[in-house]
Amino acid sequence: MSLADKNIIIGISGGIAAYKIPLLIRLLKKAGANVQVIMTQAAHSFVTPVTLATLSGNPIITDFIKNKEGEWQHHVNLALWADLMIFAPVTANTLAKMASGQADNFLLAVYMSAKCPVMIAPAMDLDMYAHPATKKNIEILQSFGYHIIPATEGELASGLIGYGRMEEPEQIYQEIETFFKKKTDLKNKKVLITAGPTYEAIDPVRFIGNHSSGKMGIALAEAAAERGAEVILILGPTHLEAKHPNIKTVRVQNAAEMLHATQQYFPESDITIAAAAVADFTPVNTS
Ligand SMILES: Cc1cc2nc3c(=O)[nH]c(=O)nc-3n(C[C@H](O)[C@H](O)[C@H](O)COP(=O)(O)O)c2cc1C
Repeated sequence: MSLADKNIIIGISGGIAAYKIPLLIRLLKKAGANVQVIMTQAAHSFVTPVTLATLSGNPIITDFIKNKEGEWQHHVNLALWADLMIFAPVTANTLAKMASGQADNFLLAVYMSAKCPVMIAPAMDLDMYAHPATKKNIEILQSFGYHIIPATEGELASGLIGYGRMEEPEQIYQEIETFFKKKTDLKNKKVLITAGPTYEAIDPVRFIGNHSSGKMGIALAEAAAERGAEVILILGPTHLEAKHPNIKTVRVQNAAEMLHATQQYFPESDITIAAAAVADFTPVNTS
């Protein structure tokens, strides 16, 4: 089974597409995954906890407190249990809270405590999806290294036609399966990558440099991180940057700094890729 023993949290927020989540749960369970569903209060209007609990084999969680005796749901333990959190559907409201780091419900508290990868499948009406605030929030979440499953085009619950439909459960399932397949092969490996140009100062204004953008080295770093590696990226002066949370970027300016940083991280790295365009000459004296 392709997802045997994978622990997956599905976060459901209050969108009409929540009615499709039982199918996603069935697909994940069939593939051997352990599934825990967390719903926002608003999500209860769109799909029943009984259906979700029956299919997932676990009680649904919405509140911090379990019962009148004050027993609490341990959001930190649950967050650390997960190999993946998938938010489907995610509303404009929950998206905004995730981007700004609010934790005013159980789902968001688990999200803020999680160390695992996060996938997000937004679903909302045409204008909500097109709103600059939503676009900005999706960009912010992307910059955290989360995997966005974009909404698709079609007829929406309001009757309008356009972008905003949650991706179909079968497709979301495929993305999850692909994600787990490709993630493992560089796990526990340390990868050192140098990228970008170096600037060798002639004086405080002029330098010897080159046109390297660092794009290739950054792409290599992103690909290695995506496959589970812990990446050190030694990056020369460029406006580009790596976004994946498993990439630690060390910024350097000139060849001597790049050499020093590389020597520091090289002994502990399993793989080293020297993709930087290091300058061939450096002035002996700078004025
Ligand atoms: C019938 C109905 C359908 C809704 N569908 C969506 C939706 O698809 N996407 C969305 O962002 N909000 C939708 N909403 C609004 C959310 O339910 C509302 O913003 C809620 O506060 C979201 O709370 P949550 O993010 O905590 O789940 C809908 C509301 C209603 C009444």
